[in-house]
Amino acid sequence: MHEPSWIPDSWRSKPMEQRVAYSDSDALRSAITELAKLPPLVTSWEVEALKQQLAEASRGERFLLQGGDCSESFDDCQASIIASNLKVLLKMSFVLIYGCRKQVIRVGRFAGQYAKPRSAETETRDGITLPSYRGPLTNRPGFTAEERTPQPAYLLEGYHRSALTINFIRGLVDGGFADLHHPEFWNVDFFHHAAAAADDYRQIIDSIGAAIHFMETVAGRRLDELTRVDFFTSHEGLHLEYEQAQTRQVPRRPDKWYNLCTHFPWIGDRTRRLDGAHIEYFRGIANPVGVKVGPSMTPEQLLDLIEILNPHDEPGRLTLIHRFGVKRIAECLPQLIEAVLRAGRHVTWCCDPMHGNTLVTQSGVKTRSFDEILDELNQALDIHQGLGSILGGVHVELTGEDVTECIGGARGLCEADLGRAYSSEVDPRLNYEQALEMAFAIARRMSRGWR
Ligand code: PEP
Ligand code: CO
Repeated sequence: MHEPSWIPDSWRSKPMEQRVAYSDSDALRSAITELAKLPPLVTSWEVEALKQQLAEASRGERFLLQGGDCSESFDDCQASIIASNLKVLLKMSFVLIYGCRKQVIRVGRFAGQYAKPRSAETETRDGITLPSYRGPLTNRPGFTAEERTPQPAYLLEGYHRSALTINFIRGLVDGGFADLHHPEFWNVDFFHHAAAAADDYRQIIDSIGAAIHFMETVAGRRLDELTRVDFFTSHEGLHLEYEQAQTRQVPRRPDKWYNLCTHFPWIGDRTRRLDGAHIEYFRGIANPVGVKVGPSMTPEQLLDLIEILNPHDEPGRLTLIHRFGVKRIAECLPQLIEAVLRAGRHVTWCCDPMHGNTLVTQSGVKTRSFDEILDELNQALDIHQGLGSILGGVHVELTGEDVTECIGGARGLCEADLGRAYSSEVDPRLNYEQALEMAFAIARRMSRGWR
C-alpha cells in the first residue's frame, strides 16, 4: 500500500490537539534550535532492544511493567525521589518475575514525563480565567497569569532535567543498585500496614537469595550479571515541538528516524485522531510506540490506526494501552480484541487501570480506588484469556513515596486521609505500599496459570 511521505515536521500541516499558544515565536524557535543541537538521551540500539522485548511481551514471553508519576515535576528531580521511584518499580518487577515466571520489561514514566494534556483549555477561579496548567514543560501550576503563561525556556529545562534523571538512573542500574546479591537491600521499609503482604514479600526475597546462592554454587563463580538490570524510559509524546527537536537519523541506521529523547513514547487518548498531528509524527519514527485506547475507540478506527502506525505489522512496534474504567471495560474491550485477532495484526496489549477510574470526592479532590483499579486489571486478564489473546503488560501511575492520593489498599486509606500527603499536581498515584500490593495481586493471579 502506498505510504505518504514523511518528514520530522510533516505533522505541522495536520490538525493539532492540545496546541500550546506561545506568545513569543522567536523565543520558541531559538529554544527548539538549541534543543536540536544537544546530544540524545537514549540510543537507537536501546530503542531497538526494547522493541524486541515488547514483541516478546505480545507473545506472552515477557511482561511489561510501565509506571511512574502522572507528571514528573522539575522540583522532584532529586536523588532521593528518583531513587525511591526506581526502587519501587524494581521491587514490583522482582515480585512479578517471581510470580509470573517470566522476564519483566521495566519502563519508567521517567526522565521526560513533563507534558500533560488537559480536558479544558482554561481554568476559572473566582471569576478569573487563565490557561490550564499543562505540565512543567509548558507552564507552571500556580494560579497567576505569569505562572500560567507558556515559556519556551521550559523546553530546555525539561530536557536538562530529563538528562539529569536518566544519567542518575543509568548510574544506579549499571552500578549495583539492583544487586540481587544483597537481599537485605530489597527488604520492606515503610510497609507497616500490610503484614501479610510484607511476609509474602520477605519470602520472595529470601527465595531469590537462596536461588542465587544455589546457581553460584553450581556454576562455581559469582554471577556478575545479577548486579545490573535493564531499564527503559517513556513519556507521553504530546509536545511535538519538543519531540521533533530530538528526532534524529543515526549513522548505523541511516534509513530510519528515531525519537532519541525517550525509548518508548506514547500517544494519549486525547490526541489520537487519525488525521491529526500526533499520529502523523508517530507514524514516521522507528521507536516502539504506545497508544492509549479509551471508550470512544471503535474497532474500525483501531484497525485504521494500526494500519497507519504499523503498516508492516512489525511485532513490538505498537502497544495498545487500554484504559476504559472498571464500569466500561467489559463492554469496550472484547470487540477491539476480536477485531485485532480477526485482522491477524500483531500488537502488544497493556492495561492502564488508572485513567478510566478517576473519581472526584465531594470536597473536590481527585482520587482513585485501589479496589476498582485491581478490578479493571482482573477483568482485563479475564477478557484477554477468554478470547485467546494475551495481556502483555500493565501501565500504572505510582510513586515510591508514602503519599495518600488513592483510597483503599491494605492500609485502608479513606477520603479523610487524602488531605494528609497529597502532592500530585495532576492525577492521583498509588503509593509505595499500594504499588507493591498491586504487583503481588498480579503475580498471584498470573501464577495460577494465566499467561
Ligand atoms: C496519562 O497517562 O497521564 C494520561 C493523560 O492518560 P490518557 O491519555 O489515557 O488520558
Ligand atoms: Co495521568
